[in-house]
Amino acid sequence: MRLTTAGESHGKALVAIIEGLPAHLKIDLEKIGEDLALRQSGFGRGARQKIERDRAEILTGVRNGETLGSPVTLCIFNKDFENWSSCMSDGACDEAVMLKKRLTKVRPGHADLTGVIKFEQEDARNILERASARETAIRVAAGGVYKQYLSTLGIEIGGYVKEVCGVKDTGEYTFGELKKAKTTGVGMLDDEAEKLAEERIARAKKEGDTAGGIVEIRVKGLKSGFGSMMTYAEKLDARLAQGLMSIQAIKGVEVGAGFAVGKTSGKDIHDEISYSEERGFYRETNRSGGIEGGMSNGGEIVLRAAMKPIPTLMKGLNTVDYLTKERATAASERSDVCAIFALEIIAEAVVAQVLADVVSERLGGDTMREVTERYSRLP
Ligand SMILES: Cc1cc2nc3c(=O)[nH]c(=O)nc-3n(C[C@H](O)[C@H](O)[C@H](O)COP(=O)(O)O)c2cc1C
Repeated sequence: MRLTTAGESHGKALVAIIEGLPAHLKIDLEKIGEDLALRQSGFGRGARQKIERDRAEILTGVRNGETLGSPVTLCIFNKDFENWSSCMSDGACDEAVMLKKRLTKVRPGHADLTGVIKFEQEDARNILERASARETAIRVAAGGVYKQYLSTLGIEIGGYVKEVCGVKDTGEYTFGELKKAKTTGVGMLDDEAEKLAEERIARAKKEGDTAGGIVEIRVKGLKSGFGSMMTYAEKLDARLAQGLMSIQAIKGVEVGAGFAVGKTSGKDIHDEISYSEERGFYRETNRSGGIEGGMSNGGEIVLRAAMKPIPTLMKGLNTVDYLTKERATAASERSDVCAIFALEIIAEAVVAQVLADVVSERLGGDTMREVTERYSRLP
């Protein structure tokens, strides 16, 4: 399966083309809409979310609610384009508006400076429009399709926010308990931690500052043997890490015990193997996060991703104006203070994309009947 996304933050629309979906996958647009709404919510989001009410439309590949086997095109029209058409149009733009919207006080922590140099631009808007995390809206829509593909096989994805700017949710939760995270402001499960995290974000906002955090993503129902140790490119952990690292602002990814593996000895970190008639091969612990040797081992997949604090601060960071070379305060367009709740939804979508790809590689199948039959035959 192949995913291509396109679109600028204030352009006409965001688009995704998914190739390789089998025929007869039922597509529930309403469910996709629920994820899109969640991506726009959460404590600490900025004003843009009030303008957009993201709704995905299907342009190709689906008829009467089912995929045809042809490429599926999804589209989200940007409402904000109405306000930006004079300087974001594909035709001739209004020079005066373009000048007004030009961004030369390049923002630290963004693609602005490296991008203008690399792509020989004078206006960092030509860089930030694509670098923006607005792109994640269409990845969430595509992720909704992938989730529906996985769900027909009994593979479910959930997650929650584990940490915000040093405030930790230290609880241990079952997969079933993760649902509650979608109903809270920050996305934590522990009420006390949630309250402290909200206070921490509110303080950052008051101080013109921003906050980062860590999310945990879990996958239930993936049978063993997906991914492969045969080549480096096929390793499941490597592919999931690549997917998660491709999300804007992600600076760290952990699988299972993650960085803790470097701080302990072998007897405390590996999952010893047992066998019984009823359970077959099993492990009492899951420190590997459900992946050994680049393959799923049948346990829950456990991943964590760390998001840096939003790099646009209302109390702007020091920078240099790209054109005048004079010292300046970085541009501060309306911005999120913390987007960790959204990140959890985006990370689920990205994990769904990687897993759907890995599953379809192993199972193939032109129709969903073929896919489900082949999956059910696996041990
Ligand atoms: C859901 C989400 C929302 C974001 N919102 C903003 C924002 O409002 N303002 C901002 O400056 N950066 C925001 N970012 C982060 C930037 O997009 C990101 O830091 C930037 O593109 C540079 O990429 P890098 O951090 O991966 O190097 C957001 C990221 C995500 C995932």
